[in-house]
Amino acid sequence: MKALILCAGKGTRLRPLTFTIAKHLIPIANKPVIYYSLEKIKNAGIENVGIVVNPENFNDFKTAIGNGNKFGLKVEYIIQEEPKGLAHAVWIARDFIKDDDFLMYLGDNLILDDINPFVEEFKNNKELQASILLSPVKDPSRFGIAVVKNGEIIQVIEKPKEPPSNLAIIGLYLFRKTIFDGIKNIKPSWRGELEITDAIGYLINEKFKVKGHIIYGWWKDTGKPEDLIEANRKILDDNYIKAEIKGVIDPSSDLQGRVFIGENSEIINSTIRGPAVIGDNCIIKDSYIGPYSSLGNNVIVENCEIQNSIIMDNVKLLNLPYPIDSSLIGKNVQIVESQKKPKALRLVIGDMGKVEIVR
Ligand code: G1P
Repeated sequence: MKALILCAGKGTRLRPLTFTIAKHLIPIANKPVIYYSLEKIKNAGIENVGIVVNPENFNDFKTAIGNGNKFGLKVEYIIQEEPKGLAHAVWIARDFIKDDDFLMYLGDNLILDDINPFVEEFKNNKELQASILLSPVKDPSRFGIAVVKNGEIIQVIEKPKEPPSNLAIIGLYLFRKTIFDGIKNIKPSWRGELEITDAIGYLINEKFKVKGHIIYGWWKDTGKPEDLIEANRKILDDNYIKAEIKGVIDPSSDLQGRVFIGENSEIINSTIRGPAVIGDNCIIKDSYIGPYSSLGNNVIVENCEIQNSIIMDNVKLLNLPYPIDSSLIGKNVQIVESQKKPKALRLVIGDMGKVEIVR
């Protein structure tokens, strides 16, 4: 079995961050979103992985993942030149898939449940032509939706106005080569894309067996800033079970709970309350870093309070009059107090940036 991770989406809802970083490479608890999927794939005993990228983000993926060696995987890249849909992404990967069965993973999805039972069942039950992970949701019209009868999917529909069920297709699919017949037989949808949901619909119409595998655990499509902040909270809660200190903590600092401090980082006269992770080469001085904060590498924080936020590499935060909360701050950003006159906000913010101030 192979795995195919789809990462060609542009991440428009995460701009301006996605002007310079693919959404699948944004760090959650200091690890790119896609690393969590690669670990799950490895854990499921799959070795050959194809990643579908777009021409702009291809190099970033090559830098972050390379040939997959560091994950114990063999990774190849497939470039989707234009955003023509998930089914199109699968179609252009057919030389990589060949005649194998495959796990298809939407690269911006995070799931915490063990996927091995889902994969094992598909390996053992050759009657199934597809198996799809589903989860009950409150807002079914935002997703592909499945109707399940006795464990089998009898209908699928992409973003229905009047949803026939609340079971969303959440971004993990198992297919055999029959899915390529489905893709050959579909037309672009109203959004101009070849929908994988329609190709699954073809399998159902052809009376092939498609299993619905329902999970009740936490999962997230990390498409928006608030999704990433929630995912950061969840992963810090679940994965950072104990404190680990590699950096230097001065005696006037106080570390409370599950706190991870990376190499060469210095904590001076500060309180860090976990769960929180601070990367390598950071300086935290006269500050409070509260629960659910993830700070990347080379971050400098002086006289500030931060909580429930993702702060990426090389950020500088100095003497801020208000706490930073529920924020997503990209690489190399500086937010600093100024002594200059006039006493005013002086901003250099990229296109589509968002700043909320309090008075
Ligand atoms: C895609 C799929 C949809 C699925 C969703 C999961 O939607 O088309 O069936 O429910 O991912 O995140 P999109 O994110 O392209 O709107």
